[in-house]
Amino acid sequence: MTAHPRPSDVEPAPETKRVFIKTFGCQMNVYDSERMSEALAAEGYVETADVAEADLAILNTCHIREKAAEKVYSDLGRLRDLKSLRAKSGKETFITVAGCVAQAEGDEIVRRAPAVDLVLGPQNYHRLPEFLSRLRGGEAALVETAFPDEDKFKALPARSPAKSASAFLTVQEGCDKFCTFCVVPYTRGMEFSRPVAALVEEARALVARGVREVTLLGQNVNGYHGEGAEGHATTLAGLIRQLASVDGLQRIRYTTSHPRDMTDDLIAAHAEEEKLMPYLHLPFQSGSDRVLAAMNRKHTADDYLRLIERVRAVRPDIAMSTDIIVGFPGETDADFEATVDLVKTVGFAYAYSFKYSARPGTPASSMDGQVSEAVKRERLERLQAVLEDGHRQFNVATVGKTMPVLFEKAGRQDGQLVGRSPYLQLVQADAGPEFIGEIVDVEVRAAGANSLSGVIRGSM
Ligand code: 5AD
Ligand code: SF4
Repeated sequence: MTAHPRPSDVEPAPETKRVFIKTFGCQMNVYDSERMSEALAAEGYVETADVAEADLAILNTCHIREKAAEKVYSDLGRLRDLKSLRAKSGKETFITVAGCVAQAEGDEIVRRAPAVDLVLGPQNYHRLPEFLSRLRGGEAALVETAFPDEDKFKALPARSPAKSASAFLTVQEGCDKFCTFCVVPYTRGMEFSRPVAALVEEARALVARGVREVTLLGQNVNGYHGEGAEGHATTLAGLIRQLASVDGLQRIRYTTSHPRDMTDDLIAAHAEEEKLMPYLHLPFQSGSDRVLAAMNRKHTADDYLRLIERVRAVRPDIAMSTDIIVGFPGETDADFEATVDLVKTVGFAYAYSFKYSARPGTPASSMDGQVSEAVKRERLERLQAVLEDGHRQFNVATVGKTMPVLFEKAGRQDGQLVGRSPYLQLVQADAGPEFIGEIVDVEVRAAGANSLSGVIRGSM
């Protein structure tokens, strides 16, 4: 007698397809890459770190500086060669360019790199499966960079198991500030905030999957104004309060903020919300008021200092972090010195510093007084030496203290884990894998510019 086959027995197992995703640029792209990977998992794709075995290769790109954008084209050259090599053994490879270069350059990408099959702007990731099936049906290069009416977040599948105890959560996209050097308002469009209820639900789902810390992401995250209860706009502070009530969520962070949107209620949240970590990433870009005006930042160096005083008044231990540009058009030696002075006055726990890079279509790219590459390099080196000093000082000041550390993964050496302090410092300690995902008191024993090492309390 033969058993009657059940439907699932006769269906062929879905063929496993492999996707390789390379992420450039900011944390928002890291979040988007995770969401794309999850959308593709529902279509039978598993992620691979080996591009040679990828049926689908996605470059999730960044357009903020020229170097990042140009790197995409050199990668596309390599992918083209790999695609023709795979074709010789009868294997199909689809090449996709996603992210901000896709948004900014659209069709131009296919003209420069004809091996590309799909160009997809950041607002269209929910349509990835549909585009792939059209490609499989034989359609030639597809380009989609529209800003659709529907909300991509609603159309993307629910979050899958977390890879780490710390996760990103995009709450806001786009920017209306139009700093004269920046492409973001053009590539990511106008500010858009996701509704509070959707974010609380996503945070709950993340916690259920082992996440203990979320970092709320937005190009201008403190400009958040999402729909809350009864349709009222909610501020970032309001959103943080709602998320703080999610059981099991232990830490909340946010990035990146604009000084002009640093409201009183957000500053107050730093005093009142225990789950909100004492770390603030607040770009100032330049210490010269003349340069700040030309950048259209709409704040002065003094405004910035006063703002930090207000934050430190309610949270004296807060770790400050920032973004700085050197060599903006017209920047003189005196302007640059004003930037160095501001850095010394504030004392940053961390900072990202960049040489100005002219971006097509932005007002600053056609300003007079473009600064030579040699001067930019010299200024950046000098600034980074001052910044590194500051980072080291901040870290050294924590030696001897005991801090709660959220352990995230195995360290470089056997028996070691790495995690983050409340101040976002990287901390290494001897600990077994059972501590991954746990918040544990660690006494700091040593500090460098980029990391700390310590000993778990109770194991000394
Ligand atoms: N050149 C150099 N740095 C830039 N940034 C943005 N646009 C440019 C540019 N054209 C920096 C700013 C911003 C960070 C994300 O990148 O400091 O805060
Ligand atoms: Fe770009 Fe930030 Fe300025 Fe917006 S606020 S234009 S994202 S640098």
